[in-house]
Amino acid sequence: MASRSHRWWQTAVIYQVYPRSFQDTTGNGVGDLPGITSRLDYLAGTLGVDAIWISPFYPSPMADFGYDVTDYCDVHPMFGTLADFDDLRVAAHDRGLRVIIDWVPNHTSDQHPWFVASRSSRHDPKRDWYVWRDAKPDGSPPNNWQSNFGGLAWTWDERTGQYYLHSFLAEQPDLNWRNPEVQAAMFDTVRFWMDRGVDGIRIDVAHYIMKDPQLRDNPPAGERVEGVRDRGEYDALEHIHDKGHPDIHGVFRELRSVLDGYPGDRFAVGEIHISDWDEWAAYYGENLDELHMPYNFSLLWAPWSASGYRSRIDAMEAALPEGAWPNLVLGNHDEVRLVTRYGPHRARVAAMLLLTVRGTPTMYYGDELAMPQTEVPPQQEQDPWGIRVPGQSRDGCRTPMQWTAEPGAGFSRGDVAPWLPCGSDPDSHNVANQTADPASMLSLYRSLLVLRRAEPALHAGAYRSVDAPEGTYAYERWAGDDRFLVVLNFTSEETAFSIDEPGSIELGTGLDRAGPVGGSLSLGPDEGVIVRLQPDGDVVSTQT
Ligand code: GLC
Repeated sequence: MASRSHRWWQTAVIYQVYPRSFQDTTGNGVGDLPGITSRLDYLAGTLGVDAIWISPFYPSPMADFGYDVTDYCDVHPMFGTLADFDDLRVAAHDRGLRVIIDWVPNHTSDQHPWFVASRSSRHDPKRDWYVWRDAKPDGSPPNNWQSNFGGLAWTWDERTGQYYLHSFLAEQPDLNWRNPEVQAAMFDTVRFWMDRGVDGIRIDVAHYIMKDPQLRDNPPAGERVEGVRDRGEYDALEHIHDKGHPDIHGVFRELRSVLDGYPGDRFAVGEIHISDWDEWAAYYGENLDELHMPYNFSLLWAPWSASGYRSRIDAMEAALPEGAWPNLVLGNHDEVRLVTRYGPHRARVAAMLLLTVRGTPTMYYGDELAMPQTEVPPQQEQDPWGIRVPGQSRDGCRTPMQWTAEPGAGFSRGDVAPWLPCGSDPDSHNVANQTADPASMLSLYRSLLVLRRAEPALHAGAYRSVDAPEGTYAYERWAGDDRFLVVLNFTSEETAFSIDEPGSIELGTGLDRAGPVGGSLSLGPDEGVIVRLQPDGDVVSTQT
């Protein structure tokens, strides 16, 4: 049972749904909101998560598949209607599932009426809602900022003779968050959804909304940071001026007060890619009055290593401000899928870590089935980033959820071509088969989720890493008298971990372990084990 002293978003497991790819109910090959509603029993019951985050479903020309919004307060007809959203929310709440939506504050679509007005004339009242600047005397853009999706972050507007800023596609102009009218209008869009009863927001590229007011050039990059995505040319500059200006914290304090004005613990998690832990931690706010959590992506691109994982988790714990709550992400709609990054056995160890380390986990749809990255043929490529910058396509992690082994994978009708092709191995990576298989990845996730939900030590307890043999990462979780030891073998060799006190195995990643342990715990290659320790036992021993 959830601990009373914790907020729902602290004990919850969040599950990300990419709405285009979850369930199609209209036969157009694209998922929709009624499709998500029809799968809530799976999410709340079969799988057993606590909250869903739904990527954008707003009206949009889909230049970046919904991250280019033309109306923040409506639903794209392809996904359904506002009434469909209300049905989804009610049905989710009936099942005890919280609903988090994606809020995209850094940029709108270039088709948004605000931008259409803004670009219509230099004197339009909305001109200053976006970032417009004159060319340099030689006609070049105002500075050297680059778009995340390749090329310059400035596009020349012939009619009004100025450049506008876009940190992503030219079809995604950046809003000017230094304009109070923009702030007011955007906070109103949050109120719109809070009034409709959503439980929280995931903030898209949250650290981008405040830039250097003087728009200074970014300096050349220093040494490459290990364990982050290689972004090619974009990495040549140190991105210190085009995002994360300290004025951002005032905006998030304001946002927090909007959320806190509502009953029921409305929640905000920010997508923030920062390698400096102190800078990351600042997004909680000095008085924990900004974001409830900045996402922790530190393990997404980390090499598979016990010491690397331990040091990253411990660094996050050390950086957390007093009272702040940790979290962990191992996959999302922008990254190569978990099982493809690590392989099938290691992905099980990663699942055990995700669901037993301290903090709120966010799972990505299909990872519970070990769905691999799908090879999308070039002629079917959709992702604008991949089309502009070879090697960066995110299509492979966005393919349809695989529900059954039938043609269409239960996602769409068999005679319909889905917007991205289904994975090539629907026979094994689907809900129907894996529900029936007691050793499947889905069964592992279900067991982990059941155990996590039942044990306050796991969903709310304290964390401490303990010394372990090289290649093994071990930690204790405890709450009151309840104590667990998690031992994860990151190597492909057998290993042994000595325990000074008796305990019993609760769960192993192969779903084939149980029974008492004492003295020595042997672990197979790429195996993880959760051990329940005696209430009054001593601390776990240091290892040889
Ligand atoms: C975030 C989203 C990504 C999107 C980008 C621009 O990184 O997760 O999918 O393309 O922002 O909105």
